[in-house]
Amino acid sequence: MEENRIPPVSRRRVLAGGALTVTGALAGAGITAAVERGSGSQDGSGGDAGRRPRTVTVAYGEETVPFHGRHQAGIATPAQSHAVFLGFELAKGTDRAALGRMMRLLTDDAARLTRGEPALADTEPELAALPARLTVTFGFGPGLFRAAGVDDQRPASLEPLPRFGIDRLQDRWSGGDLLIQICADDPLTVAHAQRMLIKDARSFARLRWTQRGFRRGRGIEDDGVTQRNLMGQLDGTANPYPDDDVFSEIVWTDAGPRWLRDGGTTLVLRRIRIELETWDAVDTGAKEFTIGRRLGTGAPLTGTAEKDLPDFGAENDLGFPVISEHAHIRRAHVGEDRRRIFRRPYNYDDAVAADGRSETGLLFASFQRDIGEQFLPIQRSLAESDLLNEWTTPIGSAVFAVPPGCAAGGWIGETLLG
Ligand code: HEM
Repeated sequence: MEENRIPPVSRRRVLAGGALTVTGALAGAGITAAVERGSGSQDGSGGDAGRRPRTVTVAYGEETVPFHGRHQAGIATPAQSHAVFLGFELAKGTDRAALGRMMRLLTDDAARLTRGEPALADTEPELAALPARLTVTFGFGPGLFRAAGVDDQRPASLEPLPRFGIDRLQDRWSGGDLLIQICADDPLTVAHAQRMLIKDARSFARLRWTQRGFRRGRGIEDDGVTQRNLMGQLDGTANPYPDDDVFSEIVWTDAGPRWLRDGGTTLVLRRIRIELETWDAVDTGAKEFTIGRRLGTGAPLTGTAEKDLPDFGAENDLGFPVISEHAHIRRAHVGEDRRRIFRRPYNYDDAVAADGRSETGLLFASFQRDIGEQFLPIQRSLAESDLLNEWTTPIGSAVFAVPPGCAAGGWIGETLLG
């Protein structure tokens, strides 16, 4: 679908731009980046790019991702720089009819805002003008099915995850009847959309948690390169890409309740705290042993380039596996495509305590057609003996069914609540 593509910066837009000149195209290739005001190399070619930084004039603010379609946007969409995940609890008396009213309202808000138009009764309409690839994605938690009296339509494995030995879950980051995931390349856009949507959800639901996350700023690296997380690792190497043939098979639900098929999926959101203080004390070799990949290149310990396939059978001179039995990539690896998951994580780095320790981690968002068949076996394997567990602790957990997208004039959730 169109929504999966970051539109290339057209020559017309490059020439029409001019507000800010940023490098980007070559930053990922290791060529020095520069930020300049004014003209620079107006055609973006950079001339003799070998000797001086190439500059491209870009203005990402007006870019849009289509809201309407078979699937909701914000899943196969290349991850934007900023995200907020909002978890709501339904108010008493929010039944099926009320949920229908709420979802019509929220769908209308989302459709407008993602086009760069103000929501109805938008109090700061000016803030809607730059959507910056805004997407708004809705998910339904287990409690919503009960409230709507449609529990028989709940996917069988859509229930709170079993408690794992590694979990230290906190209520304030867990559960929720309704999820709104808002992503954009600009934090002001995210904040405005968040405010509008919360306002309109207010008479139906109470906000239970807010989780903000970030990735690299747009234009800092080439679109599509694997990003680093706060542990310094390249994170996403073995992820399926929306372009891959297997992506649909992994992500879009094709069995179970009729309303979710044809474009729906499920989301597991785990808030995973990272103990950076103790991770910092580990040497590079041990860090690489933990994951099973090199820190610098992201290559598996049995290869030289990031995209080399790991050789899980390889042994060292002493007869031990090169990639440890307990390395993260071995524990998380599944051979069969249908059992894989699609990770769309965001970093968080929320507060620094008086002693300088940070509250850091990963908002681990995993999309898959079925939680029980895909996410759970991987999580079980990791909980059992992943070396990474020494530095990571799940402190929040929530599960949602993500309804199919809708056509213009329709609304998200119509196939369940309509
Ligand atoms: C803070 C927590 C975590 C960190 C820092 C982390 C980091 C990483 C890194 C660096 C890789 C290797 C590069 C790549 O393929 O992306 C990786 C791979 C992977 N991770 Fe994690 N991860 C975390 C939690 C999880 C969780 C909770 C799951 C699932 C339950 C998971 C599932 C996977 C999968 C499926 C792979 C690919 C394995 C393969 O090579 O087939 N990760 N992760």
